[in-house]
Amino acid sequence: HDMTVMVTGGAGYIGSHAVLALLDAGYKVVVVDNLVTGFDWAVDDRATLIECAIEEEDRVRAAIRGYHVKAIMHFAGSVVVPESVSDPLKYYRNNTAASRSLIESAVVEHVPHFIFSSTAATYGTPTTATVSETSPTVPINPYGTSKLMTEMMLRDVAAAHPINYAALRYFNVAGADPQGRSGQSTDGATHLIKVAVEAATGKRDAVAIFGTDFDTPDGTGVRDYIHVSDLAAAHVAALERLIAEPRRNHTLNAGYGRGYSVNEVLDAVDRITNAKIVRRPEGRRPGDPAALIADNAAILRTLDWVPERADLDLIVSDALAWERTLSERA
Ligand code: UFG
Repeated sequence: HDMTVMVTGGAGYIGSHAVLALLDAGYKVVVVDNLVTGFDWAVDDRATLIECAIEEEDRVRAAIRGYHVKAIMHFAGSVVVPESVSDPLKYYRNNTAASRSLIESAVVEHVPHFIFSSTAATYGTPTTATVSETSPTVPINPYGTSKLMTEMMLRDVAAAHPINYAALRYFNVAGADPQGRSGQSTDGATHLIKVAVEAATGKRDAVAIFGTDFDTPDGTGVRDYIHVSDLAAAHVAALERLIAEPRRNHTLNAGYGRGYSVNEVLDAVDRITNAKIVRRPEGRRPGDPAALIADNAAILRTLDWVPERADLDLIVSDALAWERTLSERA
């Protein structure tokens, strides 16, 4: 393919891995990122970086025209759940309103395909251990609502205009590029695997376990951790599906359909580093479900996507390798 894809948030964690997957598959890539949470060095040299906000419509539209953009992958946004509770308008601005603006730019400039980073947070508290795309969507925080609202805009826009879309609802994204080209670099991370590898490399002295009395096999929370490179590959596969069938839209869970507990994650880090992270049992975080696992039948059926790094030890060792790269740089 020599089609050009615009990647918003391409300097961020998941976006930078999607950029790599697209480039590796032969696509041309234009990144739009305001570098508020992203890093210019995270953008592969083969891509073009335009430093601007996605709601700067004149610049985004000029880029779509100038680079003949035929698809947009939209990763840009704010992603911290507790912050969305304390500052909801930031989430409705950066996620909902900014997406509205980007989608309008896509429609006005006749971009035929759109892929959106959605989240399992759209489900809220699951009533079943595995959630499917037809499970109720009742978000319990503004982050989830801001993403669900964007899904709704896409549904309505795709019914009215010649554009099709895929919304991928991510479960717990973790790991790093197996070739060491990118990884999770933001400071102050709260995600379990990132926190655990920070502890393993001496950046923290302990890992808090938020809840040990859940209704799960070992009492700690269970999540469906998905390797960021598999997730990036799913985006490329989704794009190919959108191109192949321009009238179909897709909302798909992006997970592996299995879960690991907090203790199992920490065990994996201990095993791989041959060390022992200090575990500090604490109370539950508000709103944390006991278990959140994808029913991934739909994505497996719909996309030409075969997960390659679903093994927890692979996810943890890639995350750890990236954490060590960051330490050497610092
Ligand atoms: N956890 C700990 N200690 C930590 C961090 C996390 O015990 O220091 C636990 C949590 O309680 C949870 C699990 O590890 O059981 C995973 O927590 P994360 O914070 O890594 O991820 P969440 O499942 O809370 O959040 C993820 C995404 C969000 C998304 C949410 C719901 O990061 O963007 O799933 O789909 F909104």
